[in-house]
Parts: sequence; C-alpha cells; structure tokens
Amino acid sequence: MIRFEHVSFGYPNGETTIEDLSFHIQKGDFVALIGANGAGKSTISRLCNGLLRPLSGRVYLDGQDTLITPTSQLAKKAGFLFQNPDRQICENTVEAEIAFSMKVQGWPADKIRERVAAALETFDLQGDWFPFNRSRGERQRIALAGVLACEPELLILDEPTTGLDYLECIRIMDHIKMLNLEKKITVLMVSHDMELVQDYAGRVLVLSGGKLLGDGPVKEIMKNEPLLRQARVLPAQIPSLALAFGDRFADVFTIREMYEAICREKGRGICRAGREKE
Ligand SMILES: Nc1ncnc2c1ncn2[C@@H]1O[C@H](COP(=O)(O)OP(=O)(O)O)[C@@H](O)[C@H]1O
Ligand SMILES: [Mg+2]
Repeated sequence: MIRFEHVSFGYPNGETTIEDLSFHIQKGDFVALIGANGAGKSTISRLCNGLLRPLSGRVYLDGQDTLITPTSQLAKKAGFLFQNPDRQICENTVEAEIAFSMKVQGWPADKIRERVAAALETFDLQGDWFPFNRSRGERQRIALAGVLACEPELLILDEPTTGLDYLECIRIMDHIKMLNLEKKITVLMVSHDMELVQDYAGRVLVLSGGKLLGDGPVKEIMKNEPLLRQARVLPAQIPSLALAFGDRFADVFTIREMYEAICREKGRGICRAGREKE
C-alpha cells in the first residue's frame, strides 16, 4: 500500500530530516510509527500522501509515484487525520464539514447525502452543530467522520488521541480497528503513547533522527527495551514490568497475561481469590 524507496527529505533552509529511508506497508496492515519528538514521524506521514514530496528516492502510494501523481488523486486513496482537529475543520456545520472532502472529490450529491447521514449516526453527531463549539473529543470525531466518509484505503493518523480522555480515545480507536479488521483499511498511526500502540497496532516502525532503528511485530518491539531507550520512547508498563520479572514472564504482554502469570507463580489459591473479586 505504501512503499518508501531510499527516501530523503529536508525542509527548505533546514537539515536533512529523513535520510535514505526504505520500508513497505502491506494492504490491511495496522502500523504504528513511534519515536521521540522531532524524529520525523509527521514528515513521513505527510510524505505518504503527497503533502510533501521526497527530495530523492521514491514514495509509492498503492503503486502510484507521489512525485508525478496529482495530490487530488492521492487524496482519494489516503485519508489524513491531523493531530489537531482544528487544523482540519473548516465548515460552519458538522453536516457541511463531513460533506466537504466528498464534494472536493466530486462525489454525486445523493451519495454525499447518504454518507453524511450514515456518518452522523456512526459517530453520534448532529448535522446542525457548529463544530468549533464542541468538545475536543467531538471535534476529533467530526474530523474523522469527514475523512472516513470518503472511504480511503489508507488512513494516516498523526497522534490521533492527543487531548482526548480515555473513553473518547477508546471510542475512536475501536472504530478504526473495526474498519481495519472488517474493511481491510490500512492504518498508519503516529503515536508516542505506547499503551495505545500495544493495544491496536500489529507492526511497529521505530524512528530516530529520520532513520529507521527498528521494524517488527508489536510484541517484539515493545519488549526491546534497549531499542526503545535508543529511540527515546518510554515502554508500555506491562511489558516493562514483565521484563523486570525475568524470563518466566517472557510471554506476558497484556494485563490479563500478567494476572495469569502472577497466579501461576503464586499458586492457585491467590488466583481464585483474585477472580472472585473481578
Ligand atoms: N515545516 C517545517 N519547517 C522546517 N522544519 C520542520 C518543519 N516541520 C518539521 N521540521 C523539522 O523536521 C524535523 C522532524 O519533524 P517532525 O516530522 O515534525 O517530527 P515528529 O513528528 O517526529 O515530532 C524536526 O527537526 C523539525 O524541527
Ligand atoms: Mg509530529
């Protein structure tokens, strides 16, 4: 779905931000891109959909070279959810906002009406709301509804849950995961929240100084403390605790697995007492 081939990029008057970067994301993958501030995560996400173009090397989006494909054509394939919904929202009603990108892409009016109605229902929004008055979580849902209404094959999320409370975060991420599993939408999620990465991503790319330090299944990367430290990323708590407990906890990754491993170690009595309390 996305292929980077020896990509380098730098902003005008700046240093090289991305250097000789190559990776491939398959259709249907859920990939997290992690790394410290300034590592180049947002730059990569903008290179994927032609908002930025490589200075050397090539980026292919579903086989289309972003250097020679019009941005309008790339935008039909790749939906982009900004970290800050206020950079995305530009219309005065929720209804108009959700319809905006579909209109730009030339969708027929009846199809737009149908999809706006469906999006309002799915995301629990009202068409006549003034978007800028709504809560942060609602504004993020409005922005996401507009992006998803266009049925992109690739969804790029740049820090999608910043500023959201726990329930808002779960609500948005569960919906995205459902689309990934059922509609096979490819997801590239930039995040520095390792709990979120652990819960939702299948594969992780670790970035530092514009270079790829690591690339692998989420369980492998989350357990690789030296790698995370090198990338200046704080590991998720459960894998980190499991590592501290040693080899017998090597397979522990989730809260449930940790609970079961502790029960296993301490004997069945404690295990039963714990279960009764749940
Ligand atoms: N618009 C810009 N103009 C100049 N330099 C930029 C711009 N955006 C980002 N940079 C620089 O590029 C590097 C990578 O930034 P970015 O991709 O935003 O990293 P991240 O998203 O991982 O925090 C940083 O050194 C940052 O200062
Ligand atoms: Mg960023």
